[in-house]
Amino acid sequence: MAVSLDILLGGLKAAGEPTRLRIIGLLSRAELTVSELTQILGQSQPRVSRHLKLLDDAGLIERFREGTWVFCRLATNGEAGDLSARIVELLPEDAGGEDGDLARLETVRRHRADAATAYFRANAERWNEIRRMHVPESNVESVMEGLFTNRPVGTLVDVGTGAGRILELLGPTADEAIGVDLSHEMLGLARANLDRSGLKHCRARHADMHSLPFSESSVDTVTYHQVLHFADEPVGVLAEGERVLRPGGIMVVADFAPHDVESLREEHAHRRLGFPDNEVAGWMQTIGLTAGEPVHLDGDPLTVTVWHGEKPLAKRARAS
Ligand SMILES: C[S@@+](CC[C@H](N)C(=O)[O-])C[C@H]1O[C@@H](n2cnc3c(N)ncnc32)[C@H](O)[C@@H]1O
Repeated sequence: MAVSLDILLGGLKAAGEPTRLRIIGLLSRAELTVSELTQILGQSQPRVSRHLKLLDDAGLIERFREGTWVFCRLATNGEAGDLSARIVELLPEDAGGEDGDLARLETVRRHRADAATAYFRANAERWNEIRRMHVPESNVESVMEGLFTNRPVGTLVDVGTGAGRILELLGPTADEAIGVDLSHEMLGLARANLDRSGLKHCRARHADMHSLPFSESSVDTVTYHQVLHFADEPVGVLAEGERVLRPGGIMVVADFAPHDVESLREEHAHRRLGFPDNEVAGWMQTIGLTAGEPVHLDGDPLTVTVWHGEKPLAKRARAS
């Protein structure tokens, strides 16, 4: 596809400098924070920030803040996104090797993965306590996958992505997948897992399920896997998911059927002890989705239910 002259000129000007080409090469391999880029490039933070600003102004990269960290990644959308992908294609396979960038990138990745593993180890037993109470997750995952045998995943948003398991499950067939979570530690785990799986079109982003950082009607699939029970007002959370769904899109919710395991409230901060089908169907109706048949996966003491709802296609205007 041709790129407009303005974008081409601006993009080539911004990219046409050795450090900025190194940055493009690095970001084609991983999303990196400014401080990680500073370590890898061996340049001062103000210098690196200046390079990043120029690349950002030309639209070749995107920056987003997460607490005190600023993450950078290659732009993926629009003409500037196409241009950045073409520049990457032109870079030699081993670009950055001679500057030691690739070796330092590996060190940064190892540190991230180590931090994620330490967090996982510290919490794994708590999570396993819950897993032992219900059917294996693979059973739930097959039901979720089954919803996509006759429809594409398209652009996926996985809400409360945790360690990014649903991104790993549905990401391979998605055009693009974004997992959002409130916890920085969980996002660290998700990023390490995505890095390991090589799913470059999947990413993890800090966001609250009550206010998703996506525009209206911009995604095809929204998933909530074991997250809705944390919500004070689940219907408000699902309404936010409906807002970002395109007409024809699908919302999938996997959570517990009503139960009386009070310890989940006390020890795991669950607000709701499961949801009855009629309540979820009512919410889907309230927010304008057409609810499908729920699937129950009986377990002791917890039954997992997978609900789904489709956003109706926009009604065609009647001919006058
Ligand atoms: C039980 S974990 C489930 C993770 C993942 N969906 C899975 O099933 O493997 C729940 C996740 O929801 C996240 N979470 C809780 N409240 C949230 C909120 N308001 N917005 C976004 N994520 C939230 C937690 O940080 C946690 O990672």
